[in-house]
Amino acid sequence: MRADVVIIGSGISGAVLAERYSKAGKKVLILEKRDHIGGNCYDYIDENGILVSKYGAHLFHTDMKEVWEYVNRFSDWYPWEHKVLAKVDDQLVPIPVNINTVNKLFGLTISTEEEMIEWLEKNRLPIKDPKNGKEAVLDKVGPVLYEKMFRHYTKKQWDKYPEELNASVLNRIPVRTNTDDRYFSDRFQALPKHGYTKIFEKMLDHPNITVKLNTDYFDVMDKLIGYTKLFYTGPIDRFFEFKHSLEDKLEYRSINFVSETVDSEFFQSNSVVNYPGREVDFTRIVEYKHFGKQKSEKTTIVKEYTTDEGDPYYPVLNEKNLAIYQKYQEEAAKVKDVYFVGRLANYKYFNMDQAFKNALDLFHSLEGDSDANLEEKL
Ligand code: FAD
Ligand code: NA
Repeated sequence: MRADVVIIGSGISGAVLAERYSKAGKKVLILEKRDHIGGNCYDYIDENGILVSKYGAHLFHTDMKEVWEYVNRFSDWYPWEHKVLAKVDDQLVPIPVNINTVNKLFGLTISTEEEMIEWLEKNRLPIKDPKNGKEAVLDKVGPVLYEKMFRHYTKKQWDKYPEELNASVLNRIPVRTNTDDRYFSDRFQALPKHGYTKIFEKMLDHPNITVKLNTDYFDVMDKLIGYTKLFYTGPIDRFFEFKHSLEDKLEYRSINFVSETVDSEFFQSNSVVNYPGREVDFTRIVEYKHFGKQKSEKTTIVKEYTTDEGDPYYPVLNEKNLAIYQKYQEEAAKVKDVYFVGRLANYKYFNMDQAFKNALDLFHSLEGDSDANLEEKL
């Protein structure tokens, strides 16, 4: 298998690098161990005729104009401001917490920002420099909302209570003192008209790119020849044969997606309903037909159970894991001509826009080529 550039993984990170290098005239070989391209953004039309995401709902949102322009080269997008409801005490309430959330949960009639700030001041438990996730939440919303909306949800999501996680995992949760019920507040919020997979098909549709599916890099690494750069977007610990994980494994959380057909037009009133309580084991139910207002006779719902087994999705950010990661990172810095890119290789949670941005920046830093120059060469 001969190529100028070898890329391990066909998610956002791998696809951006392949797209850029192919247009710069390099022969690119992508190895992908799954049977499809797109990484965790992969979507497809299911048996009910509904566009569903195999690895959980993917909402695109960004404040980065250059990323927004880049993704628009590969698809038309329709505006989609994501909203999430949570089922708490048998009611559906908006999250992030806003005026309507507390009004519904506590039977209040707060109507102004001042009243909401006052409510928060009365209920929150101010903690200077929160040491862990629990303190971060208590500092923001206080013990009652902590118990109803955060404590068990965090346990389900991470298999750890908030006090066992870094403050950073939870101190970014927004609390709104108005009635803004959008989940994100970025400038650009949209979904691709024909799904994400089509974007990847278009990015990789170039005579210089060869994609080998069902191919694990570690099974074929000895057969690769001629390349000058290798980009690795898989888990960093796997690359180094888990050598720093003999006693303590680098932890990831995975999700078990359980899909069901429901024989009615709709199952729930919103695309995503979170279940922060103890009464069920899943964290949320996604009903895909809401996205883009799809039409179908029946509906598909997917329950998400967070687990330890399965594909790695979320790094578990605590001191122990970060210390293990650091050892791998030092190792990675020493490997010549191999670049560790993306979510799993950096042991970080990246939203899609950040993954696009990182890969574009890496290309520019290595090739010193502005996007404009690249297009001129075509
Ligand atoms: P990945 O998509 O993980 O791609 C890595 C690829 O490498 C995979 O296809 C894998 O099979 C392949 N690979 C790994 N090891 C090997 C090997 N040894 N040989 C060959 N191939 C290999 N972001 C948002 O902006 N909005 C959202 O709503 C959102 N929702 C998400 C929901 C979930 C459940 C998850 C997990 C992520 C979500 N994200 C979301 C984040 C988004 O999925 C990532 O930003 C994006 O997928 C990162 O792309 P990547 O290329 O770094 O990694
Ligand atoms: Na998501």
